[in-house]
Amino acid sequence: MGITIGMHTKRIRQLALAFFALFGLSVLINGGQTPKSGSASSPMIPKTWDDAAMATLEIPLANPVGSPKHVSADYYYRIPVRPIYKSYAVYAPGHEPPGYMEWLKQQEPVIVWDDGAHKPPLQTEEDWIKAGEIVFDSPQDRFVPRITVAEVRDPTWYQKTGTPVAKDGTMRFGSYVIRKKGEVEVGLGACALCHTRLTPDGSILKGAQGSFSNAHVFAYRVRTDAGGEKNDNQALARFRAFLKGQFAMPWLHPDPAAATEQMSADEIASRFENFPPGVNPRHSSSYIYPVQVPDLSGVKDRKYLDHTGLQQHRSIVDMMRYAALNQGAENLASFAGFIPRGGPGFDKAPDPATQSRYSDEQLYALSLYVYSLQSPPNPNKFDALAERGQRVFQERRLRDVPHAAALHQQQIDSCRRLHSP
Ligand code: HEC
Repeated sequence: MGITIGMHTKRIRQLALAFFALFGLSVLINGGQTPKSGSASSPMIPKTWDDAAMATLEIPLANPVGSPKHVSADYYYRIPVRPIYKSYAVYAPGHEPPGYMEWLKQQEPVIVWDDGAHKPPLQTEEDWIKAGEIVFDSPQDRFVPRITVAEVRDPTWYQKTGTPVAKDGTMRFGSYVIRKKGEVEVGLGACALCHTRLTPDGSILKGAQGSFSNAHVFAYRVRTDAGGEKNDNQALARFRAFLKGQFAMPWLHPDPAAATEQMSADEIASRFENFPPGVNPRHSSSYIYPVQVPDLSGVKDRKYLDHTGLQQHRSIVDMMRYAALNQGAENLASFAGFIPRGGPGFDKAPDPATQSRYSDEQLYALSLYVYSLQSPPNPNKFDALAERGQRVFQERRLRDVPHAAALHQQQIDSCRRLHSP
């Protein structure tokens, strides 16, 4: 890929200006650029939030009245940047080194990256990608469902949620974070939570379809906090409100997600227990039809993101926007007047000072990291049988088949040939 340094050439500026003049957009400047490999210069970071670009980012919904109207750039940049704290491995029961928890409780909070003086090395392209991985692994501060320290140290939690453990004995979908000395938290909601896969031998594949079931953990949380003997109606109301914020479509009549408001804790939990790992009812999808977590390797070349192709991916800055939206900012938008994070009536955007976001620099690094993700080598060998399959595939092209019956006959013939000695 052609990599350009942040000290922009005149030509790029001219092209960008011509583009703006044509389309009236002021956002794509520097959008496709990455820092030069081995260069000591700092790249010009594109601006994540730009009102005109945000307005055209997503493809309108079938009923466009429900398409989000995002908060203004002025509002967005008044949201404080969430500092990234140093994080520590979570060990599954039986793997924790002796004295580990006591040691953690003695650690001072360490800020790795914030909007001020703290930042990782950012000199070369490799530095940027490495820094992006830090962002990929960094937890959010208000992720639902939360998980307690006691739970990740308890074997029952692993059994009940089906959470797999890496071969080094760590639980890779969250990390310990110390934001205040003596208080160890399980940090959650990082990109890594849903986009990390453990292979059957316990190796880690970052960016592949995740193997953690956030849905099972949510079900566990609902049962533990609101269901069974506890029968806590206030907790149930909080879960229902959370689901409403994430999934309501009040511009549709009837709203397919409205049923949640009547569901018992047991009904909610049973529904979420049905989803296999790697299928995640993330916001902007549906808990009725949850979506598969896509593989991120190769995403750089996909022009439309998400299974419905909802968001355009015109250049790296759109990836930055995707990450910003999906890690909180979308919940501030108005969907025909419905604001997911809009308080009890879902109608008033909160004070930006109460929210948190990534810095543009962090989003840029994160996007470079996501672009760098590679598929692992194919574990299936290309043997004699596969070669025969390849021949069948090449000989029997779909366009040669006049109609479905012939296709069916061909498939039968092919199978017979494959299976005959
Ligand atoms: C709670 C789980 C979850 C978290 C956390 C999460 N994702 Fe995803 N991600 C998903 C799901 C589910 C989809 C598919 C959504 C859809 O198709 O509507 C997705 C889709 C994507 C896509 C689109 C890929 C494509 O081919 O269309 C990208 C890019 C992506 N995520 C990057 C990220 C990044 C970067 C982060 C961290 C900032 C992140 N995700 C955090 C679950 C998650």
